[in-house]
Amino acid sequence: MSSNVQFTKGKGIRLYTPQEEEYIDAVSGTFNIALGYSHPELTEHLKTQLENLVHVSSSFNGDLVQQVLTSILEHAPDHITDGWLRDIIGSTANEGAVKIANKYNGKNEVISLSMSHHGQTLYATSISGNAFRRKSLSSTLFIQHGTVPAPYCYRCPYSAKGAPACGFLCTEAIYDYIQYSSSDNVSCIILEPILGNGGNIVPPEGYFQRIKKICDELEIVLIADEVQTGIGRTGHMFASGYYDIQPDIITLAKGLGGTGIPAAAILYRSELAVLEKFEHSYTSGGNLLSLAAAQKTMEIVSREGFLENVRTNGVLLGQLLQQLQEAYPQVIGDVRGIGYMWGLEIVDKDGAPDVALTNRLIEMAFTDHQLILRGSRYGFGNVLKVRPALTATADDIVLICDRLRQLFRQL
Ligand SMILES: Cc1ncc(COP(=O)(O)O)c(C=O)c1O
Repeated sequence: MSSNVQFTKGKGIRLYTPQEEEYIDAVSGTFNIALGYSHPELTEHLKTQLENLVHVSSSFNGDLVQQVLTSILEHAPDHITDGWLRDIIGSTANEGAVKIANKYNGKNEVISLSMSHHGQTLYATSISGNAFRRKSLSSTLFIQHGTVPAPYCYRCPYSAKGAPACGFLCTEAIYDYIQYSSSDNVSCIILEPILGNGGNIVPPEGYFQRIKKICDELEIVLIADEVQTGIGRTGHMFASGYYDIQPDIITLAKGLGGTGIPAAAILYRSELAVLEKFEHSYTSGGNLLSLAAAQKTMEIVSREGFLENVRTNGVLLGQLLQQLQEAYPQVIGDVRGIGYMWGLEIVDKDGAPDVALTNRLIEMAFTDHQLILRGSRYGFGNVLKVRPALTATADDIVLICDRLRQLFRQL
């Protein structure tokens, strides 16, 4: 959606125009405003950092980097004990993860899932599973990459009736890919625990365990791209822990900066600490403002009761969205999600994906209900996303769902 509306102020889930018109942001920016707009405590912390010092070269920020890493790793799955804070965006964090895998096992091919999104640098675009972003770049894309079907049970690519009865055909496809289509030199599999941009696709129970088994058997490094799911989005600090994914590497960005400050991290098992500084560092990676934002965000999100609220209110959000589906089953085909990460699958009268209606709903929500929503696959998909800031209260959730109800009534 493109709009002429400008926002100059924000507070929590609310955005304001210069004329003080209020809009409700149901998607926390691009899912990165984890603590809401202008979180007071984080803003104060950032102001102090800004006044003191914004940047020193990486030769002089070691202590703070270690403190921030420790505060993140404390909540990571037990086997993830080391990390790298030299990125500020998710795309390069994912590239760093692939570099680590490649250097560690000496192999060079990457497997990802169809409909996945791992970023928009040239390499991250190359390994993402979405053709629409790659179409006009084909001559410059990297080629050591293959995609396998996503665990999209609602529209199973095999028309199977659901897991586990299907025998997890989408994971078995990895064997086929390696045997028949790969260079037989697969270094890593990268996946999002919940495919965010692809359409809030939540894998069925047992899926990650199959993936892990394949990775162990074939000595493939497993990378969990938690750029969207990390830092509490699912009601758990890491989706990897909650779903017991057991990845070798986890990447983070978006929510790590708390209120929109760019920050990113790569976390890994200690054996994977193979990168030299000169192999993956960026001028602004680990700048003091990003580190301060990440440190304060971790402190706030790990406070007692914070994630419990996301879990409790997340159940409420799911229930209200399901009630919406019951009221409008002809246009809402599926409601899926966890915590503050939900998607509504918009369908036509035959149950097919209705992309035009999805985009129309987003426009109408904005124009007529002052409600900001986003669609899957950057406007090419049919899933409406609802992902408020983690600080959204139960009242905020009810407000968002009231506006959604008015929106669907308008149809
Ligand atoms: C799952 C996932 N990985 C990686 C990225 C890329 O992050 P960035 O835009 O910070 O480079 C995104 C961005 O939307 C994402 O959703």
